[in-house]
Amino acid sequence: MPTPILIDTDMGVDDAVAIALAFMARDLDVRGIVSVGGNVDLQQATANVGRLLRAVEPARRPLVGRGLDQSGDGLTNATHVFGRDGFGECDRKADEGLEPVDFRDVYRAALDDPAGPATIVAIGPLTNVAVMLREDATRIRTVPRIVVMGGALWCKGNVRDVVEFNFHRDPAAAADVLSAGLPVTLVPLDVTRFVTLDASHVARLAASGTRVGEFLAEIIPYVMEHSTEAGKGRFVVHDALAVGALLWPQLFLKTGVAVEVSRDGTIAGQTRPRISAMQDQRIDVLTAVNAADFLENMLETLCQEEFVV
Ligand code: RIB
Ligand code: CA
Repeated sequence: MPTPILIDTDMGVDDAVAIALAFMARDLDVRGIVSVGGNVDLQQATANVGRLLRAVEPARRPLVGRGLDQSGDGLTNATHVFGRDGFGECDRKADEGLEPVDFRDVYRAALDDPAGPATIVAIGPLTNVAVMLREDATRIRTVPRIVVMGGALWCKGNVRDVVEFNFHRDPAAAADVLSAGLPVTLVPLDVTRFVTLDASHVARLAASGTRVGEFLAEIIPYVMEHSTEAGKGRFVVHDALAVGALLWPQLFLKTGVAVEVSRDGTIAGQTRPRISAMQDQRIDVLTAVNAADFLENMLETLCQEEFVV
C-alpha cells in the first residue's frame, strides 16, 4: 500500500526533483501539494506547482493549495541560484486551469482521509506547518511522520556561516515545529550536501524518454551554472533526500536528539542539538547517507529504468 504524503514546497529546482521522485515512486501517493514562499515568492511558487504537474506523465491531479509567504528585512530568496522563475528560467507554461485552494483545506483533506492521515514532507520554510500547528494542533498531531528538509547542525550553513536557507526564511516557524513534540525526521544540510548531480546525470535524465526526465534535464543546467554550493557544474538535490528518506530509509543513519533553532538576531535560523532535553522533545535527525546508492536509486526511479532481474 503506497504511503500517502502531502508536500509543502517553495518550488525551486531541487523541489521539482523531489516532487518528480515522489510521483515516479510506486511506494508513495502524493495526495496534496501546498506552496510556500521561499526560493521564489508565493505567487511564483504556486504557479510552479502547475508547471511541474504539466510535465508529469501519467498526469497526476493532487489537491493543490496556496500557502503563505514570509516578510521581513534581510530575507534572501534563491532566484540567483534557481532563476527568477525558480525553474532555471525555462519557458514551461503555467497551468491556466490550476485553481489552488487555501492550504489549510489541503492539510485537512490529507490528514482526515479515511484511508489514514498523510505523512507531511516539508521541503521549504515551515511557515504553513507552524500556522497549522497554531490553528489546528489536534489535527496536525495526527500526522504519522513529518519529514523536514532544513537546518545545519554539525556543518556550515548555506545562507550564512551557521544558517540553512529554509530555517533562515522562517526561524520562528522552524523553532515552533521542531520543539512541538511532533514525529519529525529532520534532513539537514549535514546529509543533503553529499548528493550532487553532474552533467552525466542530466544526460541520463534527458535520454530517459520520460517527460519528467526531459523537464528536469531542462531546468537543472541553470543551477549548475549559477550555484556555487557544490562547485561549478554540480547541483545539490537537497529536497530529494526528504522524499528518499521515506523510500529508502536503509540508506541513512539517524540519531535521536532535541534540536533548538535560534529565533532572532544575526544567527536566526541556527540549528543546534539540545543535549539536556527530555525524551519527548527528541526528533530523528539524519546524520549520514549512502550517497552513491541514493543517487542511483533516485535516477533509476526518475528515469523509470526497470531492471528485470
Ligand atoms: O537549503 C536548501 C533548501 O533551501 C532547499 O529546500 C532548497 O529548495 C531551498 O528551499
Ligand atoms: Ca525547497
